[in-house]
Amino acid sequence: PATARERPDGDVSVGGVRLTAVAQRFGTPAHVLDEEDVRRRCRAFRRAFPDGEVAYAGKAFLCRAMARWIAEEGLSLDVCSAGELAVARAARFPGERMLMHGNAKTPEDLRAALDHGVDRIVVDSFHEIARLAALAPDTARPRLLVRVTPGVDGRTHAAVTTGTDGQKFGLSLASGAAAEAVRRILAQRRLDLVGLHCHLGSQITDVDAFERAARRMVAFLARIRDEHGVVPPRLDLGGGFGVGYRDGEPGLDPATLGDRLRGAVREACAGHRLPAPLLTVEPGRAIVARAGVTVYRVVSVKHAPDGRLLVAVDGGMSDNPRPGLYGARYEARLVGRRCLGGDRAAAVVGRHCEAGDVLVGDARLPADVRPGDLLAVPCTGAYHHSMASNYNLVPRPPVLAVRDGGVRPLVRRETFDDLLTRDVG
Ligand code: LLP
Repeated sequence: PATARERPDGDVSVGGVRLTAVAQRFGTPAHVLDEEDVRRRCRAFRRAFPDGEVAYAGKAFLCRAMARWIAEEGLSLDVCSAGELAVARAARFPGERMLMHGNAKTPEDLRAALDHGVDRIVVDSFHEIARLAALAPDTARPRLLVRVTPGVDGRTHAAVTTGTDGQKFGLSLASGAAAEAVRRILAQRRLDLVGLHCHLGSQITDVDAFERAARRMVAFLARIRDEHGVVPPRLDLGGGFGVGYRDGEPGLDPATLGDRLRGAVREACAGHRLPAPLLTVEPGRAIVARAGVTVYRVVSVKHAPDGRLLVAVDGGMSDNPRPGLYGARYEARLVGRRCLGGDRAAAVVGRHCEAGDVLVGDARLPADVRPGDLLAVPCTGAYHHSMASNYNLVPRPPVLAVRDGGVRPLVRRETFDDLLTRDVG
């Protein structure tokens, strides 16, 4: 995180709080979240899109405090389930600043969105359009965006590529499915088409791809005007803005992204003689990934025959499934004491019953790393706690907010009682 400071004794402080003190007080593993860092990134996105809307993608990480920070910083919120909506509501997040996503929203999700005044629903199938027309109350027409698959490849991991045809999200621009969805909504008096949406995928660092998508979407808006005589006012270009996970890795700078995306939309609109749409972007990872760090305690160390140290910690794939799912690569560093002697090639491995449970395969750690040492893995604020599991019935770690030298739990550590609560057989 931006406020991380190395101390002469080898400790690291984040938000003015020493990680050793956090570990001592709250135990390990623990997710530490730098509140000021989150807020700073919210403001950077707001500045980058001054006339647009920045909707934080709650799937990256959501709890009531996070929803309050997002609300206070003037962002909107993208939820993708009745569960995320329930947490947002518990934080009194305003419905008029929420939108709902999902390729398979259940009737329960849709009803929750309609009941709670979620401003916009992003429709992703013909079935959903029909379902919404049936569910729509007589008093208010649901406001819809059509999720368009623009046929633009963001060149990221296949599991998080969503801008191309053939994957499960969106209605294809190329096949005409998107145009058909627009027709069906416009033909439904009970539904209100307010715009278009696309999302290319996640952890994308190629701004050209976002610009290409923006141009295609504007061209589609122009076609809708030509065919139907209406111009839906909103254009939502999704999220997916990449961040650097390890030292020296590039991430997208929000200011550059904002300039280029707004420029591309402005030019394309001028070319088609369209009024400028109200732009939305939906960053998740770019808001919260780098604000998080996970602290683990070393449980055991082995020497592999290839000379590497196998450093096993008290967490693993249950708190960070990303290396296993996407080949994601992290750094790990010793905190809390100075490193004596040289460093060694090491694999930081988890505690779970799978050989694939490797957190950092290519770490460098002090040769004398030993049980009891603390390791910090940076850049774990997005898609870690939100994707955590109870594999091997390991309780999920807490999320602790640090700010101005203080630490407070946002989500407490899971207990064995929590695990047993649902076991009702
Ligand atoms: N908007 C939509 C419609 C999305 O589906 C997503 C992410 C976002 C915005 C936010 O994307 P972001 O800015 O965070 O990249 N679990 C994966 C990432 C899955 C992303 C899913 N959708 C990972 O850990 O890399």
